[in-house]
Amino acid sequence: MAAITLKNIVKKYGDGFPAVNDVSIDIADGEFVILVGPSGCGKSTLLRMIVGLEDITSGDMMIGDRKVNDLAPRDRNLAMVFQNYALYPHLSVYENIAFPLRLAGAPEKEIDEKVREASKTLELDEHLERKPGNLSGGQRQRVAMGRAIVRQADAFLFDEPLSNLDAKLRGQMRTEIARLQKRLGITTVYVTHDQTEAMTLGDRVAVLKRGLLQQLATPRELYENPGNLFVAGFIGSPPMNFLPAEVEGTSVKLPFGTVQIPEAKAERCQGKGVLMAGIRPEYFEDATIADKVGSDSTFSADVDYVEWLGNETYAYIPFEAPPEVEAKMRELEADLDGEGLRTQLVVSLDGASRIKEGETAEIWVDATKMHLFDPATGENLTVDREHAGEIPADAVATPA
Ligand SMILES: Nc1ncnc2c1ncn2[C@@H]1O[C@H](COP(=O)(O)OP(=O)(O)OP(=O)(O)O)[C@@H](O)[C@H]1O
Ligand SMILES: [Mg+2]
Repeated sequence: MAAITLKNIVKKYGDGFPAVNDVSIDIADGEFVILVGPSGCGKSTLLRMIVGLEDITSGDMMIGDRKVNDLAPRDRNLAMVFQNYALYPHLSVYENIAFPLRLAGAPEKEIDEKVREASKTLELDEHLERKPGNLSGGQRQRVAMGRAIVRQADAFLFDEPLSNLDAKLRGQMRTEIARLQKRLGITTVYVTHDQTEAMTLGDRVAVLKRGLLQQLATPRELYENPGNLFVAGFIGSPPMNFLPAEVEGTSVKLPFGTVQIPEAKAERCQGKGVLMAGIRPEYFEDATIADKVGSDSTFSADVDYVEWLGNETYAYIPFEAPPEVEAKMRELEADLDGEGLRTQLVVSLDGASRIKEGETAEIWVDATKMHLFDPATGENLTVDREHAGEIPADAVATPA
């Protein structure tokens, strides 16, 4: 087992395109780190540079205290599980797992011990004599992991291993991978663009955008303290609402009314013109249910559309935005891979709410949780840096 350290890693492909641009990540021994971001942000490229399948243009790649930049993949002692876990169809599950050991010329007794130990951990005992073609997607996945386990690799690397599975199996395998990683305590780097996987699997998550690291933090830190607009919009579903906001003292003027925010947050937003407020859907409540009618942070809103899901109710509330905010939202939408960011508020209310479409409703907002972003740089002006993990300086300084 080993720590993995990426120091100022750059990857430029033949055409000079910087697929990975000065990324530094410290992965502790035994840690589970997720690389997440929209398509083309450089996740696979990063992973392939860790394993040695791709040359590193500049920077240092360390495994333990060895610099591995020029080491061949087989000398790095890492195990990679791909999206298409190439199993040998003519070999039994047992032989598929044993394969790397046979290749290394291990004695029969050792092979047998290791295969059986892995098979027990992965609950594959009753399938050892079967062929991969007759197994379910999840079972095949476990065989591929078995092959990685017997090698006693220093780290596991996964590139979207679950993307071929249906939703239910994905969920099962997700839990299984998480449990297995905890049990084995092996350093793991896992690439995905699935938010749920990113939030549930990792000790820490690295969010990437166009080859640049945006933030490296625990799932909770990312959710509660996104460093910039991009991370704020990427993490969370339904996504955070973005609205034009003008701050004066501790008052924040929003399209539907004025609310108060804590002084500490307000101080950092003075004299900055029109900002973008970020408010997650669940920070809103039906004022009549939450007993907040007439409170400071309650406003009347025309509800355009309602979706009742039983345990919660989504209400859609359109608003007007000035051109600069609207333009920023279009830009963010493109960065986020076209996730629909309309000038409408999506609020998640208690399922008991009786709010109906076409009505004017009383909505309360927990303004203490609001974030305020600088629309020019995307920077979160109200971020609590002590609980935001690492936010590289160039994540916000570069114009989007
Ligand atoms: N062999 C290559 N030659 C030139 N450019 C490449 C090559 N491989 C990848 N790229 C470019 O590098 C960037 C990062 O690609 P990469 O495959 O790492 O993205 P990704 O984050 O894994 O995306 P996805 O989620 O779609 O798998 C992309 O813009 C891609 O076009
Ligand atoms: Mg990829």
